[in-house]
Formats: sequence, C-alpha cells, structure tokens
Amino acid sequence: MIVKSNISTNFENYSIILLRKFMDKKILKKFGFKHDQQGIINRYIRESGGWEKHLKNTKEFIIQSAQLKDKKSCTILGSGWLLDVPLDKLSQLFDKVQLIDIVHPAQITHKVKKLKNVEIIETDITGLMNPVYHFMKKAKKSNLTLDQIEATHIDLWFQDIKNTDFVVSVNILNQLDILICDYIKKFDIYSEQEIKEFRKIIQQNHLDFLPKGKSCLITDFEEVNLDGSNEVIQTKKLIHINLPLSKHKKKWQWNFDMNQTYHKDYNTIFKVVGMEI
Ligand SMILES: C[S@@+](CC[C@H](N)C(=O)[O-])C[C@H]1O[C@@H](n2cnc3c(N)ncnc32)[C@H](O)[C@@H]1O
Repeated sequence: MIVKSNISTNFENYSIILLRKFMDKKILKKFGFKHDQQGIINRYIRESGGWEKHLKNTKEFIIQSAQLKDKKSCTILGSGWLLDVPLDKLSQLFDKVQLIDIVHPAQITHKVKKLKNVEIIETDITGLMNPVYHFMKKAKKSNLTLDQIEATHIDLWFQDIKNTDFVVSVNILNQLDILICDYIKKFDIYSEQEIKEFRKIIQQNHLDFLPKGKSCLITDFEEVNLDGSNEVIQTKKLIHINLPLSKHKKKWQWNFDMNQTYHKDYNTIFKVVGMEI
C-alpha cells in the first residue's frame, strides 16, 4: 500500500534529490523503528568517541569494495544517521547514490540536500512489516504459521537492485529481524523456536537479495558481554544463518557499550565482519 508519495525534484539544479516515502506511520510507531533509531544516536553520543574505530573500519571497507565496481549507481541499505557511511566519497565516485532506510532522520534528509546525486527512499527492506502487522491481527484465531507470511515490496527500487553497480548492506543484517520479532512476541502465540525460524527467513531473504559480485555486507555477528575486569561473561549469536564465503573479508571489534547501559553490570562489544559477496 502506498501511504505517502512525496517527490520533490529540483530541476533548476538538475538535482535528483527525492524523498520517497512508502511507510505507514501508525505501523512504524507500533514496531518502534523511530524510537530505535533515536536510541542509536543517543548511544553514539554517550559512548563519546568509543565507536570511531568501528565506524572508520566500516567506511574504509565500503570504499575499498567500491573501487572495482562500475560507477553508475550505488545503493546503501540501512543508511540511518550515516555514521558508518562515507557518503561524500560515494557521491563523488558514483553517478547516483540511493540511501534506503525505514526512517531517515530529518537532520540527514536536510544534510544530503547539498549532494545533488543522492536519492533518499524510506521503505521497509524486508517487505514484512505491513504483512506481519496484518497477519498478527488474525493469528490468534487461526492455525497459520509464521513461514506463511509473504513479503510485499511496493517500490521499484527493490526490483532494480540487480541493475545497481554497488550495493552496501551496512550494519543492518542482524537488525532486520529484531523489531519485527519483538512485535510478534508481544502476542504470545508463537514459541521461541518458531520465532527463531522466522528470524532465519528474514536474514536469509536479505542475503539472497544482495546481488552477487556487486555487494558488500557489513554486519555484527556476535555479542560479547564483559564484566568490570574484562572477563567474558556471556556471548550471543546475532546471525542465525550461514554467511557466504568471501574472497575479501575483514573482521573487527565494535566497543558498543562501555557504560553498562545496554546490559546492567556488563560492557558489551560486538564482533563485526565486512565481506564482499
Ligand atoms: C544499526 S543501524 C545501522 C547504522 C546506520 N548506518 C547509522 O549510521 O545510523 C540500522 C539501520 O537499519 C534501519 N532498519 C532497520 N530495519 C529496517 C527495515 N526493515 N527496513 C529498512 N531499514 C531498516 C534502521 O532504521 C537503522 O537506521
């Protein structure tokens, strides 16, 4: 369902800045996407510089991956606050850059206006938010299983992705399932195992969607919780599927929360991998 289509094109400057919105605000709020995104910038500020190494690693990996690609078009999936996206550089390298996120912070929309070849699209990459919302309304009275939910994609960018020269999935793979599955959990209908299987479907769909030979995937894959003396107390897998083999891959650590606010009494780091696929 197209809820809002807001296209503004500045032909005077031959600009192709567009803000295309395809999201239902009421449903977005129920799933908590905006709140979650605000949480990212709040934590970034709170960690006062602690994320810089991770952000630098991510940007460098993206720029390196971009080198040997054709330079007509580039699509960034999960652009958010652009903390980990080298947007100026990409906008110089490529004729056209698309930023895709379920919500774009107003500050970012404003900031990218000066880059004439950057297009902003607000849409759900999984295509599952609306279907899950409607499915859960009748789930209690039905015998439906979560794998019967079908993703719907209304925007052409989704079909066009295979013609894009360079696609970047930027710290989003392990995020795609979280709010959708948190929403499903509220209904207390499906077991942990059923929900885990659905997480796998969401993550696998995303991997399958990335065009092979033209994509770069950056994702955290493991959470590590440490006590005050840096002893590992617990670890948690964040990716529930097998990641593909890659000829060019790099791993690093993201000091995500050194203020013990994500988990009380623990510092949290994420293990991150960048890979060309
Ligand atoms: C951890 S952030 C990635 C960091 C981001 N590049 C930044 O600098 O803020 C994940 C981003 O994915 C977006 N996101 C989560 N689920 C999404 C979905 N289903 N469709 C599109 N974007 C989604 C969030 O809104 C958020 O901006």
